Amino acid sequence: MDKVERIGVSLDKSLLAEFDSLIAKQGYESRSEAIRDLVRQRLSSESLLNAKANAVAAVCLVYDHHATMVPQKLIDLQHSHLLQAISSLHVHLDRHDCLEVIVLRGPVGRINKVAEGLLSMKGVKLGKINLVALDPSTKS
Ligand code: NI
Repeated sequence: MDKVERIGVSLDKSLLAEFDSLIAKQGYESRSEAIRDLVRQRLSSESLLNAKANAVAAVCLVYDHHATMVPQKLIDLQHSHLLQAISSLHVHLDRHDCLEVIVLRGPVGRINKVAEGLLSMKGVKLGKINLVALDPSTKS
């Protein structure tokens, strides 16, 4: 683990009060932990702009399993992208709809391409890609 370095930050009182209120609601026990998380999130967001950066993504899809060939297509797509598709979870939401969570890993550009192929599939009602950078220090 890197050595810890102390820094001083100047903030307007009203901005600090808003920040303290927010982090108290979120359950943070210290400003330092909240600020560390903000910095990590910012670095992660920056890293995700680089198509070559390593990342992992949870792709959530909702579809009606009666209406389409989506279940088979989802399986086919995962089998043809074995390096990216590392896991999946299926939940039966009700009599018609299913939720599929597919975890992808690899370069951001490749993940986005596979994920967009999943989301644009005919029969998918809702979809969302949640990307997390694995190496936030990667520069774009
Ligand atoms: Ni189902």
